[in-house]
Amino acid sequence: MAIIKIQKGTKDILPEEMPLWHFMEEKANEIFTKYGAKEIRTPIFEATELFARGVGDTTDIVNKEMYTFEKSKRSLTLRPENTAGVVRSFIENGMHRLSAPVKLWYKGPMFRYERPQAGRQRQFHQVGIEVFGIKQATADAEVISMAVNYLKALGLDDLTVELNSLGCPKCREEFKTKLKNVIRPYLSQLCDDCRTRFDKNPLRLLDCKSPECQEIYAKPEIQAVIQGDFICEECAEHFEELKSYLEILGIKYTRNKLLVRGLDYYNRTVFEIKSNNLGSQNAVCGGGRYDSLVKNLGGEDTPAIGFAMGMERLASLIAKKEYERLQAYIVSNDTKEAVKLAEELRMKGITCEFDLANKKFVKQLEKASKIAKYAVILGEDEINSGEVTIKNLDTAEQIKVSRANIIFN
Ligand code: HAM
Repeated sequence: MAIIKIQKGTKDILPEEMPLWHFMEEKANEIFTKYGAKEIRTPIFEATELFARGVGDTTDIVNKEMYTFEKSKRSLTLRPENTAGVVRSFIENGMHRLSAPVKLWYKGPMFRYERPQAGRQRQFHQVGIEVFGIKQATADAEVISMAVNYLKALGLDDLTVELNSLGCPKCREEFKTKLKNVIRPYLSQLCDDCRTRFDKNPLRLLDCKSPECQEIYAKPEIQAVIQGDFICEECAEHFEELKSYLEILGIKYTRNKLLVRGLDYYNRTVFEIKSNNLGSQNAVCGGGRYDSLVKNLGGEDTPAIGFAMGMERLASLIAKKEYERLQAYIVSNDTKEAVKLAEELRMKGITCEFDLANKKFVKQLEKASKIAKYAVILGEDEINSGEVTIKNLDTAEQIKVSRANIIFN
């Protein structure tokens, strides 16, 4: 019979990879908790309208990449990202009444119908943060610091923080008009996507990947508009303030004026953290401020900022260190004694196994050397004397200790 295969763009996370995933999840809890953040878990599917209104109906995510289905005449969508879901929950649970800032972190699977390639999947996992209620740049600095310190805790370096400010709706409108004016003469030479973006969301023109479009955007009159400072005085002040906090924190960054992000909800600060050791899908983290989203989704006017990181991309960068082997493997021909000793060791918090199939002594030793650091040998002599022989499986060193005194470091 034909076997049923896994879906394109999805992956099993296999048992041998789990320690790495636990490591990433535990570090997220540890680091984000240090900043006073609390974990939140929202549903994997939501009303389609949440993403159409939240992420924005000019984005690729909403237009091309959503897994949408109907049930009882309701249109539902597997979440392509989690900011919209967390904002929905923030509003629905009246979290604006909590004292600001409200700091929430999350982890879990997201779904985007994208063309799979290295570093890009259709089901992938994100770990992220959303901080609500603070408009000052201190929150922006705090969020960027959480991202940087989390990456440090994972042992990742060789990363670049890219930073930009998209301004507020008012200054951005002026910028969009200027940009459209310089690009309009070339409109017929742009790719189909850019021609649509030109009307719907001209800022997104800047991160088109087509070489033909890029050549046009490199023209001096267009670069002059892109590289010019369009943000208003208030937005510029906010950005300067953020930069001064980053300096205090010792966080290095580069300004990337082409950084516009692929979701519609951003204003002012946007940032990405890129790895210098990944291919074309090199962004491990993306985030920014979204001061209008809570209100646009029906909540009280609440400023907010956050980020999300792709966990598969993080996993591929973390050094493949040898994760903890089992501490002990009991080697004995007396199964009843082995059952008893395994129970004693596990009660002491020692990870151990013994041979459930009662194989020959040598076979048990072989197995021990494959999966454990120490063999705990329980032969007839040892049983009679109330002792065990502990063999270090790396050095072959052996010692005898009384059963009550078994400890491992
Ligand atoms: P995003 O830039 O769409 O932002 O995604 C954040 C990160 O998720 C990316 O930098 C990347 O590491 C990972 N990622 C995205 N798509 C894929 C994919 N198809 N396969 C593998 N990894 C992927 C957001 O999702 C926003 N919600 C971030 C945010 C939170 N902004 C404010 N708060």
